[in-house]
Amino acid sequence: MYSREEIIEILKNTGDNEQLFALADKVRHEKTGDEVHLRGLIEFSNICKRQCKYCGLRAPNKKVSRYRMMPEEIILCAQNAAEAGYKTIVLQSGEDDYYSRDILCRIISGIKKFDTAVTLSIGERSFEDYKAFKDCGADRYLLRIETTDKDLYKKMHPGMDINTRIRCLEHLRELDYEVGTGCLVGLPDQTPESLADDILFFKEINADMVGIGPLIPHPETPLKECPPGSLTTALKVMAITRIILENINIPATTAMETLDPEGRILALKSGANVIMPNVTPTIYKNKYEIYPNKAGYSENALKSRKYAEEILKKAGRSISKGYGFRKK
Ligand code: 5AD
Repeated sequence: MYSREEIIEILKNTGDNEQLFALADKVRHEKTGDEVHLRGLIEFSNICKRQCKYCGLRAPNKKVSRYRMMPEEIILCAQNAAEAGYKTIVLQSGEDDYYSRDILCRIISGIKKFDTAVTLSIGERSFEDYKAFKDCGADRYLLRIETTDKDLYKKMHPGMDINTRIRCLEHLRELDYEVGTGCLVGLPDQTPESLADDILFFKEINADMVGIGPLIPHPETPLKECPPGSLTTALKVMAITRIILENINIPATTAMETLDPEGRILALKSGANVIMPNVTPTIYKNKYEIYPNKAGYSENALKSRKYAEEILKKAGRSISKGYGFRKK
């Protein structure tokens, strides 16, 4: 286990990272094996009440054309993905209060009939909501902390409170979800010290999944003039996370691939063991613009699976047939 100082030193080191990435790859191989888990991602609504400074879906962005998929449409989309072989469906959206507890429960119960694991990625909700979703069969929840730096968190998320977010993560843990979190790399004024604290936070809460992505500036957000985050730094944060948390699930994130066509393969060779192909219906896909030029677009669940297979073949890995829970 690295100390905080060691992590900071690794992050500050501008030399070659081959050794770090090779060690992360070895830990990944030993603790999770060579199978890669595919998660079919459905981006079911791009309506969001929040104002996160980096995100293209932020409420004040009037230039996005907003959509909401109806419950039947979401369930059908999940069915297609399940028939194409996906064993996990990830339901992601902006923070859209249209989806009441009851509506979401209906969607989750509908999808659970297809014998898949269900992951939710829909932001901050009440304990009672989280409990109801779990009772209907939701298995996992993704809620990135984004940054553990309190001042930076405040600047990036007007009207939000980092303590509320931490409380949400605690609630999810208490309800026995598999809990995913993660951070952005390349936020303005973010330091190696603060990234080291992010990694130690993942360890402290014993996250089951950690997603790390470089910032990609969106032209319709206050961060439009920011330089993009460094792919190498994002890969380093990911590799250190793998080495410290060992058996968790770590996706090769789309943001990594968006920055560099080789990004996902590099990630799979530096600690990642999950990919999340996008199975959102084509009519909505390009409207879910968290950041511009999102990678991995294709026409349907089968095609995105094929696309993932290609990527995996290049990295010498195979696709898992299981649900892909954290290895004990
Ligand atoms: N660049 C990269 N990642 C982003 N996210 C939001 N906006 C951006 C951006 N501009 C990430 C956040 C969020 C996840 C769904 O997408 O970390 O948790």
